[in-house]
Amino acid sequence: MTKLKNKVAVITGANSGIGLATAKLYLKEGAKVVLSGRRKEALDEVAKELDGDFITVVADVSKDEDNKNLIEQTTNHYGNIDILFLNAGIAPPTPTTDITAEHYNEIFDINVKGPIIAIKEALPHINDGGTILFTNSIVHKKGFDGLGIYSASKGALRAYARVLTSEVKSRGIRVNSIAPGPIDTPIYGKMGLPEDVVEEMGKGFAESVPLGRFGKSEEIANAALFLASDDASYINGVELEVDGGLSQV
Ligand SMILES: NC(=O)c1ccc[n+]([C@@H]2O[C@H](COP(=O)([O-])OP(=O)(O)OC[C@H]3O[C@@H](n4cnc5c(N)ncnc54)[C@H](OP(=O)(O)O)[C@@H]3O)[C@@H](O)[C@H]2O)c1
Repeated sequence: MTKLKNKVAVITGANSGIGLATAKLYLKEGAKVVLSGRRKEALDEVAKELDGDFITVVADVSKDEDNKNLIEQTTNHYGNIDILFLNAGIAPPTPTTDITAEHYNEIFDINVKGPIIAIKEALPHINDGGTILFTNSIVHKKGFDGLGIYSASKGALRAYARVLTSEVKSRGIRVNSIAPGPIDTPIYGKMGLPEDVVEEMGKGFAESVPLGRFGKSEEIANAALFLASDDASYINGVELEVDGGLSQV
């Protein structure tokens, strides 16, 4: 299990769901992992269950100074970066009639500005031949009521990834995205919706997926390992749907 031996990987949103599953898999594959999250207590808790060479860094991706600090702490501890996984994100729903500037700013600051500023800070410290990976979503290809701002944020991130792919080409840095379908993570409990509404929504999602179920964080982590490893050495600029077929039907 050494697909990422001695690679330095930074993962945002690593205290939960997809980010945590990916951190575990990267550690298993020999990477040195920087797990970043905005809640110290959550990072301290997950640190107890991890094995391998890792550090945790508290960073709120919506704050520019936190992104700077995340990269500084990474390079101070491990030197240059090989894999930057911009995964942190939020998805609070609001119908268009209720959208406020605060709602828009919160989602765009975390889902769009955060990753872009983190990349800006990290770029001078990413090794040539390294990898930048985004957790995007299928929501920018398929419309789900109430997810207008979230979907727009992920669409913006996809557009940005295309430009970045070209901007870093002279350094051999690969830029790819993963677009998960419905994945069973704590994100649904953070949407601010009553439990029964979340349950109903979940049933509806599962029924519309050709494989008939939610995906697991580990199934996204497998894709994040593949895209970050040399197995994907000629894969660049793509968005890989890991969605049980939902975006294709
Ligand atoms: N689950 C799905 O069905 C699904 C589908 C498509 C795409 N995605 C995307 O997958 C990514 C990971 O989500 P998940 O499903 O694994 O949900 P999750 O378990 O809630 O994980 C999201 C992570 O992002 C962190 N985060 C949120 N805001 C942050 C901020 N301002 N600064 C730093 N970290 C922040 C969260 O921290 P806290 O624990 O403090 O909130 C958490 O660690 C997101 O980008 C999401 O949009 C998920």
